[in-house]
Amino acid sequence: MPKMIKIVEMGPRDGLQNEAKIIDNHVRYELIRQLVDGGIKNVEIGSFVSPEKIPQMAQSAELITHIMEEQRSGKYNGVRFRALVPNERGMLEAIKTRIKEVAIFASSTETFSQKNINCSIDESFERFAPVMKLAKKNKIKVRGYLSTCFYCPYEGKTDPSVVFKLAARMKKLGVYELSIGDTIGAATPNEVSTVIKGLKKVLPTKAIAMHFHDTRGTAIANVLESLKLGIVTFDSSLGGLGGCPYAPGAQGNVSTEDVVYMLHGMGYKTGVDLGKLQMTNHWIGLKMEKQLPAKFSKAGFPKI
Ligand code: HMG
Ligand code: MG
Repeated sequence: MPKMIKIVEMGPRDGLQNEAKIIDNHVRYELIRQLVDGGIKNVEIGSFVSPEKIPQMAQSAELITHIMEEQRSGKYNGVRFRALVPNERGMLEAIKTRIKEVAIFASSTETFSQKNINCSIDESFERFAPVMKLAKKNKIKVRGYLSTCFYCPYEGKTDPSVVFKLAARMKKLGVYELSIGDTIGAATPNEVSTVIKGLKKVLPTKAIAMHFHDTRGTAIANVLESLKLGIVTFDSSLGGLGGCPYAPGAQGNVSTEDVVYMLHGMGYKTGVDLGKLQMTNHWIGLKMEKQLPAKFSKAGFPKI
């Protein structure tokens, strides 16, 4: 039986959060609807963070409340929607929308932590404790993120042993899955291999997700290296949209279409309909008035 790979779509959150021009909630909603129609089963759809810091995510509560209402009335069967929460305040907002899954996010380097979430790494874990308590009480699943696991835009190369220690702390907190971020898209496969091998001593392989940004063209090679090491969950964004405002110059996540094209060609299953995603790519490109970096959606399927 072909192996199933879990694609976690970042487009509506990581993909849009760094866009200068505000994307209307109707467009974000339609993007999510089309992604789900294209077979995506895991989507990050917003954040409960400061609207001054991340204006694109300011309307997340309304959008998520609406999508959760639709899901309760029978739409989006089997789809898991998620939003980022940095602290108790964000979690209380998330609970009001009746979302069933959230994600906490920490950094592997102190400077990125300060710039991104205005606190030290230790303080970020203190902020997560009440979030986890509320999650348990409200039966909300929690995913974890660790940023700058390979390189930091402010501190340079990250010591893998720090990543392993923080991964163990995330596991102790109770996250069901930990996404390992190459936030500035600088990792190469040998570095990916070192980090995954170390992480496997701390977390079950199926609880490790890889989150590659594609700034230097190494993301797809890093996905391949991760696959060889047994990783079955990858974060990606439609068209390669995205970036983090606190990681200057970083490009979007590895593109969903390019990852899925490679996986299907290698005999893996994802449940994603590439033709539909290609159409969504062209539609959102028109809305955003730009061509997205994904290679598959520019080239399409080859003649066979
Ligand atoms: P803070 O510690 O209160 O400090 O917020 P601040 O000065 O940064 O706060 C700014 C304002 O936000 C304050 O209001 C807070 O009260 C308020 P003011 O006093 O100026 O009127 N605030 C909030 N507002 C809304 N919702 C909340 C909330 N909490 C405080 N939950 C905070 C800390 C984290 C909220 C803030 O620094 C922030 O919003 N930062 C942005 C974080 C973010 O969304 N970054 C991008 C996502 S992470 C990412 O992309 C990486 C990832 O993809 C993985 C990878 O690629 O590596 C996940
Ligand atoms: Mg990211």
